Amino acid sequence: MAKRHLLFVDDEPMVLKGLQRSLRSMRHEWEILYAEGGEAALAMLASHPVDVVITDMRMPGMDGAQLLEAVKARFPQVVRIILSGQLDRDMTLQSVKVAHQLLAKPCDVDVLREALQKTVTLNQLLTDEAIRRVVARIDTLPSMPASCVAIMEDLQSEDASIRKVAGLIASDLGMTAKILQMVNSAFFGLYRQVTDVQDAVMLLGLDAIKALVLSVNVFAAFDTRRIPFFDLDGLWQHSLAVAGCAQKIMTTVARDREQAAAAFLAGMLHDIGKLILAVNFSDAYRALLKGVPEGPAERLAKEREMIGTTHAEMGAYLMGLWGMEPSILMAIAFHHTPLESRETAFGPLTAVHLANGFGHGLRLPREGGRGAVDDVDAAYIAALGVTGKVDRWRQICLDLDEDAP
Ligand SMILES: [Fe+2]
Ligand SMILES: [Fe+2]
Repeated sequence: MAKRHLLFVDDEPMVLKGLQRSLRSMRHEWEILYAEGGEAALAMLASHPVDVVITDMRMPGMDGAQLLEAVKARFPQVVRIILSGQLDRDMTLQSVKVAHQLLAKPCDVDVLREALQKTVTLNQLLTDEAIRRVVARIDTLPSMPASCVAIMEDLQSEDASIRKVAGLIASDLGMTAKILQMVNSAFFGLYRQVTDVQDAVMLLGLDAIKALVLSVNVFAAFDTRRIPFFDLDGLWQHSLAVAGCAQKIMTTVARDREQAAAAFLAGMLHDIGKLILAVNFSDAYRALLKGVPEGPAERLAKEREMIGTTHAEMGAYLMGLWGMEPSILMAIAFHHTPLESRETAFGPLTAVHLANGFGHGLRLPREGGRGAVDDVDAAYIAALGVTGKVDRWRQICLDLDEDAP
């Protein structure tokens, strides 16, 4: 694979020297460039191919946020990452508008490598030039919302207790309403109406709540007033159904909390690309919706034909920019075409593919036609050696569907 280019920006020559030493082990995958300050960085960007810019926040003259603002305007295809210290928290929250990802200082090589690995995974997923051309045509690819970053930080902190998380959510009225609505409307198998955030957190667990909070923010990043033709509520319902089912399926396969949480989150976000396409390519998307209801495969082909990419790729692309885990990106990118992922283990992708495929048999809003048949890729399932279990998983999902209020 061709090397990627990474540009580090810091006003301290010593810091750059130190980085140079500690990043030696990455030199096979990454060509690493250094610039002392914003002006030098912009000059470098104009003369070198750069895939990722990582900048310090505090610099004399042009600070990190200003630099990324300029990068965003002049080199929109470059991934923008901010390295920030504890003290810059307020500044950082502002800069979130222009950064795709935040890394905390001091950032050790492993963390950095992992963050970069995600962008590489993403680039491998989407090596296709087509998506870059589409992204270049998009004028409003939203950055991760500031509220999202703050809440995620709190949820990830070691002492994220149920009460603390409930308090955090309760302090935001809009969020409270949304979470309760989802918890009650959806596929959680709760047998009573939940009216209290703390109850919701207790019943569903921190992982699910985290995913819900994150999803609310992700969805909110799009200006849906511009797309009155889009059935946003339908997408919510469908996403919740797929998330709930995917989590259940994952749990029956592996008692692994992290994988179950990933399946849930990937389920919530698997179709987020539809929103991106609808907001940015309204005319084409409206035309797509007007067509005769078809199966997902035909719809994907149509998306590619009319827009140049698919909702699956587009969603993975944006979530990748926002720093989501590779397993989530994989599940989003290949939820309709899992064989293309070359992934051979049962994971969140499998769970989301199945849950989404069973959607045809569920009464919740589904994509594509209303056929009674599943949209599960039999060859993929056979390759994983789990064909015999599909009926049971389908039944689990149908039961959940029955129980949903
Ligand atoms: Fe989809
Ligand atoms: Fe879907």
